[in-house]
Amino acid sequence: MFTAFVTLLFSFIIGACQSSCPSGWRQSIDDPNVCYLIIATTKKNWTEAQAFCNNILPNAHLTSISTAFESVELNAFTINTDNISSCDQMWIGASDFNVSGQFVWSDGTPFEYSIWQTGKPDLHYQCISSSWKRSRSWKTTNCSIENCFICEMSMGNLCSTSLPLTDTPSTVTLAQTSAIHSPAATSTAAPTTMIDTTIPSTTASPPTSVLSTSTAPDPCNSYPCKNGGTCNPSGNSYNCSCTSPFFGLNCEIVGCDPANGHITIVPNNTVANFSSTQFPLQISGLNCFWQIRAPPSYQLNITIESVIFTGSRGIFEILDSSNKNATLYSTSFTDQAAVSVKSSKNTVAIYFYTAYPGISGAFWIQYAAVYDDPCAGYNCGHGTCVANGYKPECHCASCYSGPLCDNGKPDPCANNPCGTYGTCVYDTATCSNPHCNCAPGYTGPFCSKIPPVHNYV
Ligand SMILES: *[C@@H]1O[C@H](CO)[C@@H](O)[C@H](O)[C@H]1NC(C)=O
Ligand SMILES: *[C@@H]1O[C@H](CO)[C@@H](O)[C@H](O)[C@H]1NC(C)=O
Ligand SMILES: *[C@@H]1O[C@H](CO)[C@@H](O)[C@H](O)[C@H]1NC(C)=O
Ligand SMILES: *[C@@H]1O[C@H](CO)[C@@H](O)[C@H](O)[C@H]1NC(C)=O
Ligand SMILES: *[C@@H]1O[C@H](CO)[C@@H](O)[C@H](O)[C@H]1NC(C)=O
Ligand SMILES: *[C@@H]1O[C@H](CO)[C@@H](O)[C@H](O)[C@H]1NC(C)=O
Ligand SMILES: *[C@@H]1O[C@H](CO)[C@@H](O)[C@H](O)[C@H]1NC(C)=O
Ligand SMILES: *[C@@H]1O[C@H](CO)[C@@H](O)[C@H](O)[C@H]1NC(C)=O
Ligand SMILES: *[C@@H]1O[C@H](CO)[C@@H](O)[C@H](O)[C@H]1NC(C)=O
Repeated sequence: MFTAFVTLLFSFIIGACQSSCPSGWRQSIDDPNVCYLIIATTKKNWTEAQAFCNNILPNAHLTSISTAFESVELNAFTINTDNISSCDQMWIGASDFNVSGQFVWSDGTPFEYSIWQTGKPDLHYQCISSSWKRSRSWKTTNCSIENCFICEMSMGNLCSTSLPLTDTPSTVTLAQTSAIHSPAATSTAAPTTMIDTTIPSTTASPPTSVLSTSTAPDPCNSYPCKNGGTCNPSGNSYNCSCTSPFFGLNCEIVGCDPANGHITIVPNNTVANFSSTQFPLQISGLNCFWQIRAPPSYQLNITIESVIFTGSRGIFEILDSSNKNATLYSTSFTDQAAVSVKSSKNTVAIYFYTAYPGISGAFWIQYAAVYDDPCAGYNCGHGTCVANGYKPECHCASCYSGPLCDNGKPDPCANNPCGTYGTCVYDTATCSNPHCNCAPGYTGPFCSKIPPVHNYV
């Protein structure tokens, strides 16, 4: 029986390495080697919860949370977990058993990020719990209390290669599960948006030009349908079939849909719009959560055009993945001037939260995937690529011009006018005005004057 268990466990882990997190675990969007398991159907005290995580899989422990991005991501996962409404606090892996007030993560992660509730921590209690209802914030709790909890596992050493961008089978399963249960979730206490519709980069942005054999231009040739929508031509016009939760004429609006959250994959060099007219206007404690992800080695340039609240107590944030100081943008005011922010990696989370009834809002942003290294993969032909900010710029070799240095001019020295005793040079800036530099003793425009022969005898 033990052998059977070990074999099962082993194949489980190998399976995880090949594709994704074990069934039931959620894969971190920021680090594909990290998986989370939200336990909402059984409650344990802190030590028992820790033991539960430790026993379930090697490398598993109560979760640590080291960035605002991770905190938001976990909150979105938590809120979309079945039976979550029976949980109040969630145990996470921090405690101060040894030195009061010195909190440590059980997995050894440095305790650098925290999101305490107002007036916390209360040092009478040693274990930290997180509230999925109250903007994911923390407090210390009596370690003996039984709570739901969150396990984290690193596939680290076991799986060194990163996972393909669009291949997240376990996420898809969970998304389907949560879609089935969405009416219940809507009517109970999980009104959060966490969309797991992974849009393949090939469909999210088509190539910019397509050869057309017909004389009448296909209205779909300009790829008017955004965010993975499918274009249906109809005479001179078109309509878009949008992928949930996008809607609008061109699928440019995203909803705060309780059944789904969102990951948008931005193909390289494309600019896209992302807006919501649907911040929640429901009960308190609502969260909307979206993510935008570009391909690896890209960053996101996001221009926040507008964020509007119908009340003054909502929070709209854009969080950078993997950055300890993860807030790229945060506002709770209306009428902000447009501002551009750039992510440090290829993923950002967009988060809307309000703890107060009657708050709603809308936002409008534009985002683009920009090269990490603008010169990576950029071919300057007869020239050198130099990064000008985030844009690649070609510095051309002499006698070449054009944005890609592929416009050649005739070489002014091509037919070697300077003969054996001269070197042909020209004005490199203009690629013109060839002339000869003569070897010592040789003169004339073509260095052809032979020096006198001296007889010293
Ligand atoms: C979880 O919720 C489902 C309904 O969504 C219910 O049938 C089930 O009994 C619940 N499980 C627990 C352990 O509460
Ligand atoms: C508490 O201190 C002991 C002894 O110094 C150490 O072994 C243990 O790892 C510490 N525990 C934590 C959670 O820091
Ligand atoms: C924590 O809860 C246990 C069990 O209810 C109780 O015995 C203990 O006194 C509590 N500890 C604190 C610090 O309140
Ligand atoms: C947690 O529960 C176990 C089993 O009931 C008990 O042995 C342990 O002392 C409890 N831990 C805390 C911190 O209350
Ligand atoms: C969209 O276009 C398709 C194909 O022309 C058509 O069948 C469909 O009814 C249209 N949908 C709407 C909402 O107009
Ligand atoms: C980016 O787009 C260009 C063409 O627009 C293509 O050649 C290149 O392969 C793309 N790179 C990635 C990583 O998709
Ligand atoms: C984004 O929306 C604005 C305003 O509707 C429009 O001017 C702009 O062209 C759009 N950009 C893209 C890439 O769709
Ligand atoms: C980001 O987008 C803004 C607005 O479109 C633009 O002005 C800015 O140059 C862009 N920055 C980068 C890094 O592409
Ligand atoms: C974190 O971000 C804020 C806001 O952009 C900035 O003021 C602050 O200096 C940053 N802190 C660090 C340590 O980078």
